[in-house]
Amino acid sequence: MPALEVLEPPVNPSSGSGSHQPVMVSRITQLLAVTSGPAIIVDTTVGAAGHAAALLAASSQDVHLLGFDRDPDALVLARRRLTPYGDRVHLVHAGYDELAHYAEPVIADVGPVASVLYDLGVSSLQLDRGERGFSFRADAPLDMRMDPTTGQTAAELVATADVADLTRILRLYGEERFAGRIAAAMVRSRPQTTVELAAVVAGAVPARTRHAATHPATRTFQALRIAVNAELDRFGASLPQALELVEHPVPARAARIAVLSYHSLEDRITKRTFAAAATGCVCPPDLPMCLCGREPRVRLLTRGAERPAAAETAANPRARSAKLRAVETLGER
Ligand SMILES: C[S@@+](CC[C@H](N)C(=O)[O-])C[C@H]1O[C@@H](n2cnc3c(N)ncnc32)[C@H](O)[C@@H]1O
Repeated sequence: MPALEVLEPPVNPSSGSGSHQPVMVSRITQLLAVTSGPAIIVDTTVGAAGHAAALLAASSQDVHLLGFDRDPDALVLARRRLTPYGDRVHLVHAGYDELAHYAEPVIADVGPVASVLYDLGVSSLQLDRGERGFSFRADAPLDMRMDPTTGQTAAELVATADVADLTRILRLYGEERFAGRIAAAMVRSRPQTTVELAAVVAGAVPARTRHAATHPATRTFQALRIAVNAELDRFGASLPQALELVEHPVPARAARIAVLSYHSLEDRITKRTFAAAATGCVCPPDLPMCLCGREPRVRLLTRGAERPAAAETAANPRARSAKLRAVETLGER
């Protein structure tokens, strides 16, 4: 069964920072907290700052946090939650594909990057805000932009794409087995709201699949969101920048990168990028000496991908599809 982001977040509006529960937060803290600085922890997807707050709480006073988010609403929450950490917190309204550009001045000011976190995908807060159009649980225009100030909305994509394009998007990003039927139905009626789209999908899939545990439109929503936000392209452009950042300037000790992904294509990018960075000499084994000169840049900290414990996935549906991979540079930690 391909990985699928769960679209039913725990709804708990009374919890202080909103209802987003950070995934695998103890393991992330164990991997990425830094107890002697000066150094920077980069949270490339700061969101409601659940991970960021835990990391700052577990790190020493001379450790700063550089947080990115494309969503201005998320940054408002993050700023509020991280107020106790004062000027140790630097928040940027930018995508993680611009990591190197925004990290440079903070590195010059504070010191080297010791940890980088990616917690990919959509947050429960975004799903809960009906008007953002990420979820079919509230009727709203199909927007789905992580950054609502720029770019094409899902409604615009659905209004203009042809059957071939939509089929490709649904198959690739949603791993949707009924992609062709759903795409044809979408082009026939060009739905413009979340509820209209959910109804079009439900009407397009075979009747026997309509009563499965997850709504038949879940994969379609995931696929459109990934396409609208160019999520895989941006992530693919960002991770190599993170590898560069942790090497430059070379910290005296090992620096770490951890990625929490929720989709098999995100996990594939992570796995391949980390494996390539962890590979040393690639000369044929019968050569008497290395001619390629290639050195490993990192070592893998996770054997395969780590998954959340059963208790966490029971308490937090969003954790169900989570996969964690981490690497560290080759100094001492
Ligand atoms: C799963 S949430 C992160 C939650 C966070 N770890 C927490 O503890 O609250 C993912 C966040 O990444 C943001 N995001 C999505 N694409 C992004 C990108 N290309 N660059 C930066 N942030 C992005 C989303 O707006 C969302 O707030």
